Amino acid sequence: MVSAVVLAAGEGKRMKSELPKVLHKLGKRALVEYVLDAIAGMCDEIVVVVGHKAELVKEYLSKTFPDVKFALQERQLGTADAVKSALKEIKGEVVVVVPGDMPLLRKESMKALVSAVQQGADAAVLVCEVEDPTGYGRVVLEGEKVVKIVEEADATSEEKKIRIINTGAYCFKKEVLEEFLPKIGCENAKGEYYLTDIVELLCTSGKEVRAIFGSPEEGTGVNSRSQLARAYDILSNRKVQELLDNGVTIFRPETVFISPEVVVGKDTVIHPFVFITGKSVIGSGCTIEPFCVIEDCILGDNVEIHAHSVLKGAVVKDETSVGPFARLREGTVLEKGSRIGNFVEVKKSVIGEGSKANHLAYIGDATVGKNVNIGAGTITCNYDGVKKHPTIIEDGVFIGSDTQLVAPVRVGKGSLVGAGSTITKDIPPDSLAITRAPLKVFEGKGMRYFKKKKYGIEE
Ligand code: UD1
Ligand code: CA
Repeated sequence: MVSAVVLAAGEGKRMKSELPKVLHKLGKRALVEYVLDAIAGMCDEIVVVVGHKAELVKEYLSKTFPDVKFALQERQLGTADAVKSALKEIKGEVVVVVPGDMPLLRKESMKALVSAVQQGADAAVLVCEVEDPTGYGRVVLEGEKVVKIVEEADATSEEKKIRIINTGAYCFKKEVLEEFLPKIGCENAKGEYYLTDIVELLCTSGKEVRAIFGSPEEGTGVNSRSQLARAYDILSNRKVQELLDNGVTIFRPETVFISPEVVVGKDTVIHPFVFITGKSVIGSGCTIEPFCVIEDCILGDNVEIHAHSVLKGAVVKDETSVGPFARLREGTVLEKGSRIGNFVEVKKSVIGEGSKANHLAYIGDATVGKNVNIGAGTITCNYDGVKKHPTIIEDGVFIGSDTQLVAPVRVGKGSLVGAGSTITKDIPPDSLAITRAPLKVFEGKGMRYFKKKKYGIEE
């Protein structure tokens, strides 16, 4: 059995923030969520060590990772002490330890750590070689073996030249942690119990600590806002590169953010300043124009999302067109070939095949059939101040501009609603419905009106 301990009790002083460091976000997700993603599926249990603002971290994570357990580290005495506070909770004979502030750790590397221990090493450390090792623990190697990790604050000038750094991700045999954690002291520059000290203790007792090399950027931790910004770039570049290598066109890629779990099909074109996050899946041959935000959406093939559109929790099927300046909210389904145009908001509604709402409309809690035309300025009045009500618009209906559909209401198949109508009851199929105040025309009265209003001249 493999257990994991995620260290998330620290405050993150260098962030200068009210929010615990591990809850700072890259895109839509917190740092610690990326770490949990990297170990998800390979551990039988996960224990997150919380301390600073523990309740906040627990509350946040119990929503997104309901299966994780928590251990409390009362005082933040160092990384060794943090692991100690989780030790009694864990059952696995193999224990992965990861810091909650390393969002770029990769699953492959975490698997390699576990394999090293499963194949006999007493411990394994994920290390990487970087250009600038400043701030990180330096790793002293003898061949593949790690003999010592020296923290920057305690390193000699010779040791500071080492460019192989400790990522802070490890795997241990549990018995090794039980035996050696209590032996770690705090006689160092920070007066903390360093987990890194366990390496030298293990080596001098003849235990084997193996080094696993990760990719250079994997070692980018987040201790400051500058590092947070850097991690964001790396995370996004990594995803963008993966997509570019797999048949997706992305222009000005440095301005685009795409979360790691997003899927994008071949020959889709993504323009500058686009944000695609969450569990979004984009089909092939789509175009996403500049300044669009797409979160947790499923897009079919050959979909066009025009500039400045914001989509969240929507399903947009093949050959549809959205925007410019459209907003699709949670629960929206656009069936094949439908079209939502500029300044149209859709919430929790199905728009049937080939149907259109091209300009200035609000469609909420509605079921719209096939080949319906919804005129400019149409509003589904779905909220009576207390409850939400549904609107049903059947196949082939034409809704004239500036119509209010006061829900609950149904417009029957093939009906026509005249412009400017307020529809308050169901319309049977094949009807013409219109509510319009009669037009009055007073010929020759125009000039008289202005004279009186503007110049006070009575005729
Ligand atoms: C640590 C490593 C360093 C490594 C670096 C990689 C030690 C002593 N040093 O340094 O070798 O290069 O990570 O990023 O381990 N935490 C607790 N309780 C505590 C202290 C820390 O839970 O008492 C948590 C923090 O919330 C954080 C993680 O452990 O998520 C790492 O702590 P941090 O203070 O950031 O360690 P570094 O100085 O970065
Ligand atoms: Ca750190």
